[in-house]
Amino acid sequence: MGVKGRIRLGVLASGRGSNLQAIIDASQAGRIDAVVAIVISDVADAFALERARTHGIEAMFVDPNLFETREGFDAAIIDLLRKRDVDLVCLAGFMRLLNPLFIREYRNKIINIHPALLPAFPGLHVQRKALKHGAKFSGCTVHFVDEGTDTGPIIIQAVIPVLDDDTDESLSARILTHEHQIYPRAIQLFAEGRLEVRGRRVFCHGIPPAELDEKRNWGAINP
Ligand code: GRF
Repeated sequence: MGVKGRIRLGVLASGRGSNLQAIIDASQAGRIDAVVAIVISDVADAFALERARTHGIEAMFVDPNLFETREGFDAAIIDLLRKRDVDLVCLAGFMRLLNPLFIREYRNKIINIHPALLPAFPGLHVQRKALKHGAKFSGCTVHFVDEGTDTGPIIIQAVIPVLDDDTDESLSARILTHEHQIYPRAIQLFAEGRLEVRGRRVFCHGIPPAELDEKRNWGAINP
């Protein structure tokens, strides 16, 4: 646990880092009880690193080519996270699979954001796949990371309709605005110690009864 009861985050990102930015903004605005302790990338010129530096956050490129094995690369990252007392690892567009070694070390302490309603459309290019499949709803998912690809227990999902005139780009953009909302929210639930993983299910404790009632009748129908 970090300064003033705020948890310490280690963010792993390979690209533009818009989710990282949403997390930094939420942290700096005091909307989450969390601080970004370090940002690590496997891509030297990832814009995510620049975003971190702009905010005075430690940003490190770890070159995967310097390691003979994937385990070696993961061990180096674990070492960095440990030395910074990271409580929660956030994958934000990190384009590498973590080894079982990593998952064991941070069991139920690694979360990921995925731009689809899991378990539908895991993997890459998922908005295109959702369109091609004719899905009427899509959205995004924050989940704990386990040994599989996008298979871990689901924490939060946001649902959005797929519109007739949607393209890969328009759908991705609409999903992204929701990603930026649910990722900080999931971090806050974790920081408050409200998440409990039981098998595949994640239970969120402490939701007031009135809010629960409202949720019970929620639904969406297309068009
Ligand atoms: C997001 O769509 C996220 O869901 C996926 O990778 C993308 C990363 O975008 N895992 P950004 O780098 O956070 O802008």
